[in-house]
Amino acid sequence: MSLEDALKIKELVKKHTEWFRDSLPMIASENLISPMAQEFLISDLHNRYAEGLPGKRYYQGNIYVDQIEELTTELAKKLFKVDYADVRPISGTNANQAVLFALTKPGDVITGPPLQGGAHISSAKFGAVGMRGVHKIEYPFDVEEMNIDVDMSAKLIKIVKPKVALFGMSVFLFPAPLKELQDAFQEAGTTVWYDGAHVLGLIAGGQFQDPLREGAHVMTGSTHKTLPGPQRGMILANPPGDEEKRDKFWKKIQRGVFPGVISNHHLHHMAALAITLAEHIEFGKQYAEQVVKNAQTLAQELYELGFKVLGEKNGFTKSHTVLVDVVAQGGGRKVAEDLEKANIICNYNLLPYDDPKKPRNPSGIRLGVQELTRLGMKENEMKYVAELIKRVAVDGDIEGVKKDVKELKEEFNTIHYCFNEGVEAYKFLELVK
Ligand SMILES: Cc1ncc(COP(=O)(O)O)c(C=O)c1O
Repeated sequence: MSLEDALKIKELVKKHTEWFRDSLPMIASENLISPMAQEFLISDLHNRYAEGLPGKRYYQGNIYVDQIEELTTELAKKLFKVDYADVRPISGTNANQAVLFALTKPGDVITGPPLQGGAHISSAKFGAVGMRGVHKIEYPFDVEEMNIDVDMSAKLIKIVKPKVALFGMSVFLFPAPLKELQDAFQEAGTTVWYDGAHVLGLIAGGQFQDPLREGAHVMTGSTHKTLPGPQRGMILANPPGDEEKRDKFWKKIQRGVFPGVISNHHLHHMAALAITLAEHIEFGKQYAEQVVKNAQTLAQELYELGFKVLGEKNGFTKSHTVLVDVVAQGGGRKVAEDLEKANIICNYNLLPYDDPKKPRNPSGIRLGVQELTRLGMKENEMKYVAELIKRVAVDGDIEGVKKDVKELKEEFNTIHYCFNEGVEAYKFLELVK
């Protein structure tokens, strides 16, 4: 690439950063990494390789990397109060692949949530599950509860006796009914896998269900959604049985990670993750509490402004996510695109009653409040954000809202719930002159 091209990229990244500085980022799977964690992303660790586990590497040069990995693993165990943690997966999908490699073989049958009910693409026929040659049977979904149907899912698990029962979604409004399905798990003798990608930070902050104490044997997750860290993944487990059985289960999972689905595991991100975990031990509860309060306030306010907010029966949401049916406002695609023009960034989303084969213009939008919370916004700001959304989706006031969003962001431009509170967010480092 010529220098001219490099400078073009610099300009684009700068524009992107400035745009997000002046926007309300409300994609439910994103967040702001803390200033201290961010520093490690440009450390020398980025240039290095480590394969295997500490003390059993295939490369020299890992004396300090081993210590970093051991400490990161210990921090993960401490935060999630578990005996087994693997911090090497480089994304949530990668963690899911590792678990699939460890626990299933081609031809196996698993059960999991339906796509239009909010399941992640990695559990779809055309995602990691299907590509492993595993067949997923979907739990029936209850739209009023905005959750899988407990009785029908219990029946399904007992009849199918799946190798693995998978839970967890990308639109995760309410906890999965793990406790309620205990008998079915026992009768089917199934392994219970919880994909906590979206809610990992809420679980760690004690504000969502605690899956590994409610019957899940293994939990995967992304470390950059409600857990506000580097883009990475992790696996945590509470395997069944005596110590020998537990260790055997865990070894299988770790072999799924390496050599199963990763080689080097992006060491700069691992060091950054250690900082995120340490910060979450200190600030996670306070942060997660505010996230849930903010989501509930936003949902209630949108509802009062006339929007069809899903999950009404159960108080709209118990997580960071709000799901809105915007058919009356022109459909998910139109509303999401108009909001983007007004600097409110969210995504259009399938709703449980949409046709999963037509994901391009679904009925809903998905809103996440975790990044706005990280910027220090509370209930009052959520009420204002609901009003801004209404002004775009109902009144069509795109230009007016864009101006007001920018003004609001000038007051909320530092990162909270971390060691270096008050450091400016959306900084652009001018390293290329
Ligand atoms: C439920 C669920 N699992 C897995 C993933 C994948 O995570 P990643 O983007 O870290 O690969 C996502 C991403 O949004 C998700 O929602």
